[in-house]
Amino acid sequence: MDLTQKIISLCKRRGIVFPSSEIYEGFGGVYDFGPLGFELKKNIKNVWLEAILNQENIFPLDSAILMNPLVWKASGHLSAGFSDTLVECKSCHKRFKGEEIKNNECPGCGGKITPPRKFNLMMKTFVGPVESEATTTYLRGETCQGIYINFLNILNSMRLKIPFGVVQIGKAFRNEINPKNFIFRTREFEQMELEWFCHPKEADRWFEYFKKQRLDWYFNLGKKKENLRNKEIPEGKMAHYAKRQTDIEYHFPFGWEEIEGIHHRGDWDLSNHSKHSGEDLHYFDDETGERYFPFIIETSVGVERALFVLLCESFEEIKGGRTKTTESKKEEEVLLKLPKALAPIKVAVFPLVRNKPELVKKAKEVYQLLKPCFTCQYDELGSIGRRYRRGDEIGIPYALTIDFETLSKDDVTVRDRDTMSQERVKTNEIVKYLKNQLGS
Ligand code: GAP
Repeated sequence: MDLTQKIISLCKRRGIVFPSSEIYEGFGGVYDFGPLGFELKKNIKNVWLEAILNQENIFPLDSAILMNPLVWKASGHLSAGFSDTLVECKSCHKRFKGEEIKNNECPGCGGKITPPRKFNLMMKTFVGPVESEATTTYLRGETCQGIYINFLNILNSMRLKIPFGVVQIGKAFRNEINPKNFIFRTREFEQMELEWFCHPKEADRWFEYFKKQRLDWYFNLGKKKENLRNKEIPEGKMAHYAKRQTDIEYHFPFGWEEIEGIHHRGDWDLSNHSKHSGEDLHYFDDETGERYFPFIIETSVGVERALFVLLCESFEEIKGGRTKTTESKKEEEVLLKLPKALAPIKVAVFPLVRNKPELVKKAKEVYQLLKPCFTCQYDELGSIGRRYRRGDEIGIPYALTIDFETLSKDDVTVRDRDTMSQERVKTNEIVKYLKNQLGS
């Protein structure tokens, strides 16, 4: 099994990611996020938002997924610029993106390939009860268009001056020809986008600024430097709206692939929306008397790709186990070394054994004490060693054991996921102790 397969299996087994509509044999390129996947995504979105909103002059927005279809005409997403080249194997009929094919041969069966056809990525839908009379529109292909069409609303209601930024996290949809590599390329995903509106003369400087800031964000989260790189995208290969483009790439088990795009969008969006809507989206600077379309620098990352990177970076497999108990010798132990701030469950609480009511009662009390402060799990099934390993597999940073000493001394054993070191901490100090350790 390669690393991707191991991660897929862990995700299914432990409630992180499930294939969508599984009881109906699935639905291609769509995934559901289980209880732990939900927490992981939430934590990723929170650290991203905190880092971005910590800066001055950046404001959040929650715009609708459905928009007037003219938005997509103006943005260029209905034209060839937002299409993929579709080819099909004449033997096995599997479909591929044109660039995935070498020597005109099917990568699966070696069969001959059809000539390429253009295929638009927007997801069409109908608004209105009677399909024949309804308006055709699209599920948004990128979240940022909701920001551009609200440019004036935000500028005026918040009384802003250029430069300023607007961020949004939300679902985006693309009718991908060949969704693949688990949650890497899907038809429904979440984006975290920042749109920075600035003076055209300042745009190159801001582009460099955000390029560095975004790469540093990954390093600060503990990602390995050798697994990340910036890739400058040459003219002709850039997105249809971009004047300059750098992709942040990660070294996945299946090769180097984009996880985030940094785009210099110039005045593409505001000038096109001005033209198509008839609204004047120029900015007027009352200090200098200048009137211009602000340029936009964008940073855009998919939450699921960030999650996939996190899983790849954190996954460790230890043959024979770390503890080398007779019970674990035969097994392969999985340790998910997630950054503690991102772990879906922060603390596990175990009574040493489950057939001693006084231990169970005390363990449940400790669990209730911690629950308002941390995501916690109570587990009384199996040996302590097994419970530690179940916790390690989903990256729980701290496991607390309630034993007989707890009853007399009112302290608990705290076991650290990474070092496996154990320490006794007084029950009435445990919340403070864990907050310190978790940096929260
Ligand atoms: N607004 C700019 C924009 O949407 P993009 O490069 O097309 O740019 C940005 O997408 C990010 O969104 C990508 O780097 C990736 O993280 C995520 N993304 C795009 N398509 C995706 C897909 N089909 N599945 C999962 N994530 C996707």
